[in-house]
Amino acid sequence: MLPPEPIALLDLTAEHAPYQAELDTAWQNTVQEAAFIQGPAVGQFAAELGAQLGGAHVVPCANGTDALTLALMSLNLPAGTEVIVPAFTYVATLEAAALLGLRPVLVDVLPDTFNIDPAAVRAALTPRTGAVVAVHLFGQCADLELLIEICQAAGVALIEDNAQALGATFTFANGTTAYAGTVGEVGTTSFFPSKNLGCLGDGGALFTRDAARAQLLQQLANHGQVQKYHHQRIGLNSRLDTLQAALLRVKLRHLPAAQAARQAVAARYDAALGAISGLHIPARDPRSSHVFHQYTLRVEGDGRRNALQQYLKQHGVPSAVYYPLPVQQQPAYEYLGSRVGEFPVAERLCQQVLSLPVHPGLTVAQQEYIIECVGAFFAV
Ligand SMILES: Cc1ncc(COP(=O)(O)O)c(C=O)c1O
Repeated sequence: MLPPEPIALLDLTAEHAPYQAELDTAWQNTVQEAAFIQGPAVGQFAAELGAQLGGAHVVPCANGTDALTLALMSLNLPAGTEVIVPAFTYVATLEAAALLGLRPVLVDVLPDTFNIDPAAVRAALTPRTGAVVAVHLFGQCADLELLIEICQAAGVALIEDNAQALGATFTFANGTTAYAGTVGEVGTTSFFPSKNLGCLGDGGALFTRDAARAQLLQQLANHGQVQKYHHQRIGLNSRLDTLQAALLRVKLRHLPAAQAARQAVAARYDAALGAISGLHIPARDPRSSHVFHQYTLRVEGDGRRNALQQYLKQHGVPSAVYYPLPVQQQPAYEYLGSRVGEFPVAERLCQQVLSLPVHPGLTVAQQEYIIECVGAFFAV
């Protein structure tokens, strides 16, 4: 069995094809205007993204890891302050805290949504806790209802690492709906090329509803200065390039269509794979929309996930494991002193998860082939 046409896990060429001419024009105009740092496109992009996110302030920066660093810097936490983070995430979520001399405190995640477990957050709070970083993993919001309640009651800041769920929404019990990244003190995102809104290089941004914090973040991202050569704070050189902002303005216009395409792919997978025994399709939290940065299956049984991945590879279907190792097993974070078995859900997920292609350029024929391959694996 071979695919009707080669299948990629991420196909940016296919995704860009419908609006390649717009990208080319944006690129050429930026080169001609030659305002490469803090050119007009940066502010225009920030305003347009903010409008799409219900009026949040958007502060662009150089990448999603810097966004997390800047978010924590803006809280002004003393060295050694504890920052609660999920054990199942991309490492950048806690790298920022560790670099700033704060202490990441790992907690387990929920087995169905893969998102940080609010009960575990509550149990991990101490008088030294300064912040909780919740990740909206794979495109679906963490339990913002409980997280905001827990953080407010404890007087600690909630930071939303929204690198994977830009545009997702969460509906609270009181009926209000908010965009992911705009609920906590600060939200962060990444425009890494593979993200739902990706640029053509590195990029990132911060979100806040508080104008004063937005100003502070802006300052911190630009060497701590408000006025050129006048430095109020120790900051970073973390600016979004004008070129990336110009390209992001184009891609932002096409984001709703891209999200809809991802959701359609996910719905077809759900319908076709939902009944296979030993295989779990992604759980949906009814309070959150899901923008499917990843479509992540859970495969039960010792070694079955790896066997499925191998089988798919042999049949021309790429897949990926996000993430193969929980944070506590990363050598760089051994100093946190976590024990094997301490976060059983995160550890189990690392053995069981497998992400299938879900990019907007995936054709129906390609997807039908992927579904056929997964079905054939479980039929034997
Ligand atoms: C959850 C999460 N947080 C943070 C980051 C870091 O973003 P960046 O690669 O832009 O630094 C990423 C992506 O790479 C991510 O997936």
